[in-house]
Formats: sequence, structure tokens, C-alpha cells
Amino acid sequence: MAVSPIGIFDSGFGGLSIFREIHRLLPQYDYIFIGDNARAPYGDRTFDEVFEYTNQAVHRLFDMGCPLVILACNTASAKALRTIQQRELPQMEDPTRRVLGVIRPTVERVGNLTYNGHIGLVATRATVSSRSYDMELAKMGHVTLTSQACPKWVPLIESGRLHDETLYNEVRHDLAQLFEADPDIDTIILGCTHYPLITSTIQQVLIDLDHPEVILMPQGKSVSYALQDYLRRHPEMESRLSRGAEQQGQTSFYTTGDVDSFEQLATLFLGHNERIKVQKAIIP
Ligand code: DGL
Repeated sequence: MAVSPIGIFDSGFGGLSIFREIHRLLPQYDYIFIGDNARAPYGDRTFDEVFEYTNQAVHRLFDMGCPLVILACNTASAKALRTIQQRELPQMEDPTRRVLGVIRPTVERVGNLTYNGHIGLVATRATVSSRSYDMELAKMGHVTLTSQACPKWVPLIESGRLHDETLYNEVRHDLAQLFEADPDIDTIILGCTHYPLITSTIQQVLIDLDHPEVILMPQGKSVSYALQDYLRRHPEMESRLSRGAEQQGQTSFYTTGDVDSFEQLATLFLGHNERIKVQKAIIP
């Protein structure tokens, strides 16, 4: 196993949409990905549960040698990131390890996409109720944010039903509500890392609802460029990370859930020619 990889964590498959872009931009580093599929979805869980599970996964990634962990999950970023950064990290025997999230990098870029300042957010109930996006966007000045919780999407994605009619109907129902609340939305933040796995369904619904011009904003690119920038500004962290020969690092994938279904869906989504190898993780 790689000695000092970057850790990437999500409640399940969603973090792959972040990992894919990070790996595309920064292939030289080693990575460990953990999906907590056995306990996903996190979106309807309590604050304490999301914090506890995320904290356990972060500790596991630290124990596996990662000096830097990305919470590739909005729900975990909204509910656990700040407490981990402010309370957990300073108490650890190595307080120089770091944990970063996905919400701030997304908010920093969305202003470049919207023309009229009317932004929509689709996310889990936990992310919407945390109001993390509202608070971050308020720092940016004049934009209108309208949020829509989409509690049914992640369970369907986690069960692998990516092209199911039920999924289409749920997406249509939730996006119709979003446009009812603000018909002027010109940009939608996909504020759950699972959602890029169903981009084609979301695009089809936008066409069917007569909003084909709306810009969809997945988070992978914002997060990967923010990470690149972070590593430039923090050479003390960058120099700790292990990397592979010829600018090609290694990635180890772990799931707490079913290894076989993770291998299938991850291979498909990451577009690998050969089936990726996934190992079982037991957390805590
Ligand atoms: N992928 C996650 C997010 O970005 C969590 C989804 C869930 O577990 O409900 O919010």
C-alpha cells in the first residue's frame, strides 16, 4: 500500500465524481478512496450520526497513512467538517494532518457561471437544512439561492438504479418544485456528489421541463482545482504526499458495503477498461 496517499471519503459512490476529476488533474499522487456504502445514505441521518461516521472514516484514513483527507461529500462537509477541523484535529497526536471539504470550492466558482445571479441548489435534506450553502454564498454578495432537498435520489443511485423510471420521476418532481420556487434560475449546483452519476437523467428532465439552457454545476472540477491550489500554497503538505513513478500514482478503493457492486458501478462510472479492484473496509 502507498505510504502517504490523499484520502477521499464519501458516504457511498458519490465521491467517485470528485475522485475522477482530482485524479484527472493530479494523477501523480497516491489515493485511498473509502465509500461508507453500508451506512449510506447519510442525507436523512442526524447531525450526530453524520459527525460520528465521518469522524470514524477520517480516523481510518489517517491510520492508513493519509496526511490529507478530502470529504467528497456535501452532507459530511456540512455537518462534520468544521467540528473535525476545529475540535478533533488539534487534539490528535499529529495535529498537522488536514481535512478539506467540497462546499467552499463550489461556492467560490459558481459566481463565474451564473449570468443573472439566480442559483438553484439540489442536495440532500441534511445539506439543505444545514444552510451551509446559504451562509457561504452570502459572503459572495448579491445572489439569490433557492434550495431543493431531493431525498429519494441517493437511495436510488446507491441501489444502482441509474436509468430507472422511478429515478426520472423523482428528478422531475424535485426540479419542477425548484423552478416553481424561482423560475429565473439559470445555474443549478449539484450539491450532492452522487448527482453527477445521473447527469443524463437530470439533463433530460431539464429539456422536458423547458429549461434546457440551465447550466448544471457538478463539483469535481472546482474541488480538484481548489486542491491543486491548496497544495501550491502548502508545500509542507505537498512534500509529504507519496506519488508514483512516471507521474502515475496508485489508488486503493475501499467500501464498507458490497465489494462486487462497488466494483461494477465504479468501473462503469470511472470509465476504466479493466474492472477496478475494491477491498472491504470495516469501520469503525
Ligand atoms: N454524496 C453525499 C453528498 O454529497 C451524500 C449522500 C448521502 O449519503 O445521502 O451529500
